[in-house]
Amino acid sequence: MYTAGIITASDKGYNGERIDESGKIIIEILQRYGYKIEKYALIPDEQVKLEKEMIYMSDNLRVNLILTTGGTGFSNRDVTPEATKNIITKEANGIAEAIRYYSLQLTKRAMLSRGVSGIRGNTLIINLPGSPKAVREILEYILDTIYHGLQILNSDTSECARC
Ligand code: MTE
Repeated sequence: MYTAGIITASDKGYNGERIDESGKIIIEILQRYGYKIEKYALIPDEQVKLEKEMIYMSDNLRVNLILTTGGTGFSNRDVTPEATKNIITKEANGIAEAIRYYSLQLTKRAMLSRGVSGIRGNTLIINLPGSPKAVREILEYILDTIYHGLQILNSDTSECARC
């Protein structure tokens, strides 16, 4: 069973002005796919706080997967990709590309998400947009392949033995 940490980046959610539906949807879907949720954090759109939480979940809780939602757009306060880029040790651009490739077939507005994906230690980190609709669409598309990626990330072999 793989473990996961979920981070919602939202000023409104943090200030109690909006219910964090997207975070709840991620938890529901991940549990359905068999993940154990180690931590859920609702954080304002502040880069240092986001970085600290990602580092904690990766280095201390040692979760296999961190999914973030929100803060990937064009607003001045959107800094989730910048926080993620600062703390990953390897990029996993293919995942972010796949998310945009699939999402663009559903809405042209997918081009407005700057979400990134990468690896820190044994933790895979993926930025998702903030809307509940986007979160559902994207997770149903990527999760089977993400499972395969986690198998490789957590194996000792230097190659993909399952392909
Ligand atoms: N991706 C999918 N699959 N479905 C969507 O509805 N919405 C887009 C985009 N990606 C969307 C999507 C919109 S409207 C925006 S502004 C960007 O994600 C950034 O969202 P964020 O600022 O909430 O992270």
